[in-house]
Amino acid sequence: MDTHVSRITKFEGNLIKHLFKKAGGSRTDPNPRFFDDEKNIMLISRTDGAVSGFLWAYILDSPNDPFPKLLLLYSIDVFEPFRRRGIATLLIQHLKEIARTHNCRKMWVPTSRTNLAAVALYRRTGGVAQNDDAVMFTYDNETLNA
Ligand SMILES: CC(C)(COP(=O)(O)OP(=O)(O)OC[C@H]1O[C@@H](n2cnc3c(N)ncnc32)[C@H](O)[C@@H]1OP(=O)(O)O)[C@@H](O)C(=O)NCCC(=O)NCCS
Repeated sequence: MDTHVSRITKFEGNLIKHLFKKAGGSRTDPNPRFFDDEKNIMLISRTDGAVSGFLWAYILDSPNDPFPKLLLLYSIDVFEPFRRRGIATLLIQHLKEIARTHNCRKMWVPTSRTNLAAVALYRRTGGVAQNDDAVMFTYDNETLNA
């Protein structure tokens, strides 16, 4: 089994659509603007030639320091038949390399404790859960427009 990770740097609508469909997301409308900004990152893995997984992430600037940027890993998916073969680990290794290249101070990723696979993956790749007290709130579209 041979897996390669590469960065998608230009808009490929059909590929993007395919990835999000395979991941089971409800939104599969590709957005070309994502690729206009080099701080928006999308990595894809191919295993023996077949698309096996992907992640997307953002480099965020701090208002009080030009350098210590943050890298937010927003979403990662490895498709069912390819799981437990180290592919997510490989994707995250590539993302860490990008974080180093851009002088990011920290990389972080939100998840839920009930997602045992994700929690184990992030621990295994060197992530540390900040504390038991942290909780993430979402302001959904309805709330934003209320
Ligand atoms: C989470 C996910 C990305 C992991 O992908 P993967 O390619 O299977 O992960 P890896 O093979 O690199 O696993 C690395 C380590 O993570 C842990 N891990 C991965 N999947 C696991 C599972 N189902 N149960 C327990 N531990 C798991 C293990 O420690 C594993 O190492 P090991 O196989 O040597 O024991 C994949 O399960 C997935 O796509 N899930 C659905 C989407 C999702 O939940 N994404 C995260 C949102 S926050």
